[in-house]
Amino acid sequence: AVERTLSIIKPDAVAKNVIGQIYARFEGAGLKIIASKQKQLSRAEAEAFYAVHKARPFFNDLVSFMISGPVQIQVLEGEGAILKNRDLMGATDPKKAEKGTIRADFADSIDANAVHGSDAPETAAQEVAFFFSGLEINGR
Ligand code: CMP
Repeated sequence: AVERTLSIIKPDAVAKNVIGQIYARFEGAGLKIIASKQKQLSRAEAEAFYAVHKARPFFNDLVSFMISGPVQIQVLEGEGAILKNRDLMGATDPKKAEKGTIRADFADSIDANAVHGSDAPETAAQEVAFFFSGLEINGR
């Protein structure tokens, strides 16, 4: 089925000036960028976005990292977009990510891991709506 998923290029990858290289991977895999913006997240916004991880020991470091510089946020659309994007990203820990994945090629650590992608249809819908209004998303 054609799906939509929320993707974030994190501050480490934005600072490395590789937004275009990462976008080319999305496009090369047949994913369309149907909404996009660059934003400096506030601490409250990052905490709200990652609320599901609030009780995890890495929560504070994660939030501090995500507000350390601007992020590039996009909605990707395509056949099986959620899994396709996760395959492109590779494992959360770049040391475990397969060769040729975004994290293997651009990420330095489990915190500075270059990209975020929604993990399931419910979280994708929730995360897209967190950052984009209907008016900001190009229709089908
Ligand atoms: P992300 O997909 O953005 O979702 C939560 C983030 O927490 C994850 O990527 C990692 O960057 C970060 N993180 C740090 N430590 C861990 C951990 N032990 N397990 C999972 N995620 C972690």
